[in-house]
Amino acid sequence: MSATSSGEEWAKRRTYAIISHPDAGKTTLTENLLFAAGSIRMAGQVRARGENRRTRSDWMKIEQDRGISVSASVMTYEHRGLTFNLLDTPGHEDFSEDTYRTLTAADSAIMVLDAARGVEPRTLKLVEVCRLRDIPILTFINKLDREALAPEELLDDIQDKLALDTAPMQWPAASGKRFGGVMDLQTNEFIPFRPDEGEMSSGQRVPADQAGKLLSPDVYAELQEGTEMARELCPEFNPQSYREGHMTPVYFGSALRRFGIVELLDALADIAPGPQTEKAVIRKAPGEVTPGGKEVSGFVFKVQANMDPNHRDRVAFLRLASGKFKRGMKLKTDKGKALTVSSPIMFFAQDREIADEAFAGDVIGIPNHGLLRVGDSLSESGEILFAGIPNFAPEILRRARLADPLKAKHLKKALESLAEEGVTQLFRPVIGGDFIVGAVGQLQIEVMAERVAVEYGLDVTFEAAPYELARWISGSDGDIEKFADRHKSAIAEDIDGDPVFLAKSAWEVSYSEEKWPDLKFLRAKERNS
Ligand code: G4P
Repeated sequence: MSATSSGEEWAKRRTYAIISHPDAGKTTLTENLLFAAGSIRMAGQVRARGENRRTRSDWMKIEQDRGISVSASVMTYEHRGLTFNLLDTPGHEDFSEDTYRTLTAADSAIMVLDAARGVEPRTLKLVEVCRLRDIPILTFINKLDREALAPEELLDDIQDKLALDTAPMQWPAASGKRFGGVMDLQTNEFIPFRPDEGEMSSGQRVPADQAGKLLSPDVYAELQEGTEMARELCPEFNPQSYREGHMTPVYFGSALRRFGIVELLDALADIAPGPQTEKAVIRKAPGEVTPGGKEVSGFVFKVQANMDPNHRDRVAFLRLASGKFKRGMKLKTDKGKALTVSSPIMFFAQDREIADEAFAGDVIGIPNHGLLRVGDSLSESGEILFAGIPNFAPEILRRARLADPLKAKHLKKALESLAEEGVTQLFRPVIGGDFIVGAVGQLQIEVMAERVAVEYGLDVTFEAAPYELARWISGSDGDIEKFADRHKSAIAEDIDGDPVFLAKSAWEVSYSEEKWPDLKFLRAKERNS
């Protein structure tokens, strides 16, 4: 069904994330997308907001010191009668787990490339994550106002490195100082770049045959040659292939000069998918949850603490998957805990507002005191259980050592709370009183250490653990018990009480796999499977 034609509120949602290598222009593009949609009066406010947030949340000095955004957030804005929910993916490579979770809540992604650099390592990793969920990707090639690689070279790069078919929707007229604009290959109109006006480019289109009047003869000749080649050699845009994650439509522009932004917004409105059917497990009968379904349901993909330093509240970000949510509604977790959602928050570029209603595709923030965790499903009946927000096996393990052993209880609480938020993972060996924390990347460990010190006032060192790897053990209860008996000193429980094998080396894991063929040693645990 074409997204908007159904007229349903949920079909008017575009929930997406922007992925890029650092410095490709994600922040600048975000600002200007919001500016183009009229959501912020002056570009620059996203950054200002970020800085405000940083000064306010001084517990997260790391964010400031390193100049990176550690916590992902969501921003909602309207354009052409549609509601756009932009999910901010953390840019640092250590945050693959967090990014993955955020992408589980996105229906599509914009990939931003620097036109002089093409596909960079971080982009590659993020696209791999998108591919795990077949997320459709729109490509925006940024910084055309600077000397760029040839468009065909950029398309080849995407094709070769990312194994994505590329369908250029536009073709640029040169780049850098000679950059003259782009030809819209769909409508055969030319969109001139007017660097001095600093306005958004929409509304200034001219028919293709008039482009020659606006460009120098050499740039025009280059453009003609390029568009001819594109028409002859490049595949046409295929909406189905895009939605299945095999093809990416490619747009060109300059986020900084606000060129190509409106076209990108329009592309999101016209071709990006709205909410899709979620493959969920419904406890009573396995099935799917459709966005137009009656029962309100959703899943928590992120939990953030200390959004308001005056309250020890946590905010759980719930991506709605079906139904019409109303403020004050009673929802139940898949574990049967009930809560009344009396002050759901919607996040706009400049404000937070209490949401009176929300639909599939929307993200609402639910303040709570620790009831909600990443991966939790919420629904009216409590019978819906969404599959698929995994925990990844940590690559770094550390043992927490307290300066004051009498504070063990406090430490337990702090580490459990951070594990519930999804910052780090916590493993309790069945023998001894150690706290082993795990993370996918070093930065997560640093964030945790900082927060344990500042928020909980605990003096803790995180020293090398006597283990190198953690693997979830899966198999029959009997087999797990036998294995645990033989490896008592290497068995731990995670925060859900599930058994984990703490191995000294990769070799030990392979050896155990051979010796115990009926057991599986898993790198990722899907909480709800
Ligand atoms: P990121 O979030 O992906 O890390 O990138 P960000 O938007 O912060 O942009 C990185 C740098 O690239 C910034 O310059 C930004 O101004 C510049 N930039 C972004 N889009 C364009 C563009 O279309 N054309 C040109 N020429 N530059 C662009 P900076 O000097 O590192 O930072 P700042 O001093 O401008 O804040």
